[in-house]
Amino acid sequence: MTIRLAPSILAADFAALGAAIEAAERGGADFIHVDVMDGHFVPNLTVGPPVVRSLKRIARVPLDVHLMVTDPDRYAEAFVAAGASMLSVHVEALPHLNRTLAFIKGLGAKAGVAINPSTPVAALEEVAPDVDFVLVMSVNPGFGGQTFLPRTESKVRAVRELLDRAGNSAPIEVDGGIDLQTVGRVVRAGAEILVAGSSIFHAPDIVAAARALRAAAEEAAARGARA
Ligand code: DX5
Ligand code: ZN
Repeated sequence: MTIRLAPSILAADFAALGAAIEAAERGGADFIHVDVMDGHFVPNLTVGPPVVRSLKRIARVPLDVHLMVTDPDRYAEAFVAAGASMLSVHVEALPHLNRTLAFIKGLGAKAGVAINPSTPVAALEEVAPDVDFVLVMSVNPGFGGQTFLPRTESKVRAVRELLDRAGNSAPIEVDGGIDLQTVGRVVRAGAEILVAGSSIFHAPDIVAAARALRAAAEEAAARGARA
């Protein structure tokens, strides 16, 4: 397994996103996670394509854009054009998920499917061969700084089994409440891409917090591989 860190700028100072991204990159970020919220799919509002376009100019690592919107089909193209390298859409929002995934891939981005805590893994069954990654939500989306839901661990294991059965080695990303206490648990369950907002950007030293989180994840991955 390959650990990748995706700091979520939702917890950063929006007046100084450039500095936040630069610090996260110095701390070993592999991607920058951008949370897009429309006030309908989740009860919060964040950023749109113009902000992603500006971030793309300064980020040295790829942008991982998480669409928490009711109509991802309508906006996918604009976000990829703005610079999203990875785009995740929620299974709960899409009646024609195969078509959406094919559309995103056709735009040249990695297509991910995000799944809410209350949605059963079976909702991914039919698209398992087609996803580039799966984003398992470990909190109910909408806000940073929430408490990690422990059922995520068994869910990550179940998603890994589903992907393996489908012959797909696509990585699992976990998002919500990831910190030094929870990261080892999700990594041992099979998560490879770790989103973290508050635990990185609310820390007094962003670079050190990112490095420490990555080190804890690597350590758990190595221990898992030895087990
Ligand atoms: C929640 C977002 C997350 C959020 C995570 O709806 O999808 O990406 O930024 O924040 P923390 O790490 O603070 O739980
Ligand atoms: Zn997110």
